[in-house]
Amino acid sequence: MAQTKMKKAVLYNENIKTVLEILSENPEGISGQAISEKLKVSRSAISKMVKNLEKLGYKFEVSKKKYKLIERPDIPFPWEIGEGGKDIIFFKEVDNTQEKAKELALKGKISPGTWVIAERQRSGKGRMGRRWESPEGNFYGSVFLKPDLPLKETVKISLIGGLAVWRTIKSYEITKSVKIKWPNDIFVISENSAKKLAGVLAESFGESEKIEFTICGIGVNINNSPLEIAICLKELVGEKYNLLTDFTRRFINTFKQTYEEFLKGKWLELKTEIEINMWRGKVKVMQGEKEFTGVCVGINPDGSMVLQRQDGGYENIFYGDTTIITSIPKSE
Ligand code: BTN
Repeated sequence: MAQTKMKKAVLYNENIKTVLEILSENPEGISGQAISEKLKVSRSAISKMVKNLEKLGYKFEVSKKKYKLIERPDIPFPWEIGEGGKDIIFFKEVDNTQEKAKELALKGKISPGTWVIAERQRSGKGRMGRRWESPEGNFYGSVFLKPDLPLKETVKISLIGGLAVWRTIKSYEITKSVKIKWPNDIFVISENSAKKLAGVLAESFGESEKIEFTICGIGVNINNSPLEIAICLKELVGEKYNLLTDFTRRFINTFKQTYEEFLKGKWLELKTEIEINMWRGKVKVMQGEKEFTGVCVGINPDGSMVLQRQDGGYENIFYGDTTIITSIPKSE
């Protein structure tokens, strides 16, 4: 991945990854000398690395010249993510990862497939100009892509992002009903409520009809549900060690695999998987002042939604704000 130096960015670092691995393999502690020999770097380089890790929230016990790793923070630093970490640029705080990724892409500082991930966002962006609440503890990431698609088919990227989130959530073997809502959300549905777990914001840029590049932003509630109508992964899986880091590790690799399937021409198979796992119930779609109510029955090959109206006719929905209609009692 083409990455140049960036202010305040935390990048993948093979030495840090190895030091942490060595420390985990030696829960009773290991001397700085032994680590430096394994890594073939000086002891002072090890001591500097440990100090930097302490600043990032890692906790060590240092005694008799031995280093013992006591605690890893639940922060998805690139070296915690495995192979996929090489594609991550991490920031503690940004306005939002969408704008940061766009800025870096336009300056040629990142290559396609690169993720910008932040621990928190000052002004997270949702769809339709809404705000995306972004406290610490949840996943906020935007990936820079160059899909070979017409601009109006950006919805396919949104759906692929949603499918990758859905596949990742399902890997936790959740018993509740988790559904993709066309075109961009993941909801947890029960008999009388629909709670939002994740949202996707795919923004494409290009001068002609063709996409020049897309920034696909994904927000997933992991430890916090910032709004009444939201739910977080922790509520579904219970207490789990370093859940945000664990989710990020699974998700980055799942997204890569899902997007590669798309690049290999498997859109129709992916579309079928989305259709099987999407909310196929009653929805209301707002297109400005225009309102459509009906049942979402599927997705067209171009990514648009097939809506069956109350009169039995069909409508193809290319854009809009979709709300799930469940039998929610008025008091909720
Ligand atoms: C929505 O459901 O309205 C889409 C929400 C998308 C939120 C993500 S969080 C990472 C990226 N940065 C942002 O500011 N927005 C997207």
